[in-house]
Amino acid sequence: MKFEKGFLLGAATAAHQVEGNNTHNDCWAQEQMKYTSYAEPSLDAVDHYHRYEEDIRLLKEAGLNAYRFSLEWARIESEEGVFDEKEIEHYRDVILCCKKYGVEPVVTLFHFSSPVWLIRKGGWEADSTPDDFAAYVRVVAEKLGPELGLVCTINEANMGLQIAAIAQRYRQQMKAAAARLKAGGADNQVQMGINFKTMMENQKRIAEENKEVFGTENPAVFCSARSAESDAIVMKAHEKARAVLRKLCPQVRLGLTLSLHDVQAADGCEKQAEQVWNSEFSHYVPYIKDDDFLGVQCYSRNIIGENGPLPVPEGAAVTQMGYENYPESLEHVIRRVHAEFGGDIIVTENGIATADDAERVKYLGTAIAGVQSCIRDGIPVKGYFCWSLLDNFEWQKGFAMTFGLIAVDRSTQKRFPKPSLAFLGSYAPD
Ligand code: BGC
Repeated sequence: MKFEKGFLLGAATAAHQVEGNNTHNDCWAQEQMKYTSYAEPSLDAVDHYHRYEEDIRLLKEAGLNAYRFSLEWARIESEEGVFDEKEIEHYRDVILCCKKYGVEPVVTLFHFSSPVWLIRKGGWEADSTPDDFAAYVRVVAEKLGPELGLVCTINEANMGLQIAAIAQRYRQQMKAAAARLKAGGADNQVQMGINFKTMMENQKRIAEENKEVFGTENPAVFCSARSAESDAIVMKAHEKARAVLRKLCPQVRLGLTLSLHDVQAADGCEKQAEQVWNSEFSHYVPYIKDDDFLGVQCYSRNIIGENGPLPVPEGAAVTQMGYENYPESLEHVIRRVHAEFGGDIIVTENGIATADDAERVKYLGTAIAGVQSCIRDGIPVKGYFCWSLLDNFEWQKGFAMTFGLIAVDRSTQKRFPKPSLAFLGSYAPD
């Protein structure tokens, strides 16, 4: 069933994952390090920086009417306080290209990657970061303001807290493994295949290398395990950016985006599940109540047991990312978010990493049926963006994860639309 007129149906990307050669940001720096945790470097990525027009045209030809992409802060402000007109004009061109094809541009101001200079100043744990972010947003608003319509300030503002929870569980497992090692036991009893000894040795070298590159042993990049103070800093950055945009381009409709799981409780673990949902979503509501929409990003569910998320249920299908293929999660999350937030919702990301495009079609079909059921029940869902328009650089996991509606042969940078692109387009409003 097609969406109603006015509904935004599109696909999303993020600058560092598709553009290529984002040499001034922290991810690029980490990818190049000797003791990197990245599977491979992003290099030219899928050269979207030069091929954006072809990509937007393919999106349009499939029937989609909106494109969500991000501006790369480190391109625009590669040195603190020095703004690059040429890069700002590049993004003006991308926005104008969308408009030329009748595609609504949805601009994300920050999607995970930060300028190296920001990290050297303390990154996302520094009190100065909200002002630094606001200064960048001010320049964008001054230069591109009249072109902007829908804006996401910060992508997955809650990502650091989720990583902190994972890191904490991981440390507990490590501690237990270390105790076993000391007692002469094997070190292969942690869940993941980890050589505990080598990792400990490397930790020292990683710290030294960090010191060289970022001036600190523990760089606070956006996707680092986040403290409660840092969580507040991210919210402050959002609020300051919102104030700048409200003042300089009042026509803009804005929100942030959150990474949300369909949090389900295992029997008897309702309290634990409630805590996870509160950390992932509820405690942000006061910060976003004055926004124009919330960007919901959902891929799967997490079943919460006594001590946190349980492994994927026995026999369940998993995606390339290792999490459960569970497209019903989107509908559940939208309903839950609506009950607490009440405002407009845009699904700014949803999708699946799979080599089997028929599996993607099935996943999208179920997820979209869920969105349409929410709309029928009166929930104001205003748009749906599939992650991702293109197969791209999946951060530390590299290019092996294929989320795209379009495949790319990176040796030639040739694009190959998959059947799922046309499938998604078939839901576009007339
Ligand atoms: C992020 C994307 C990422 C996607 C798939 C989201 O967490 O916003 O950058 O590629 O999920 O993992």
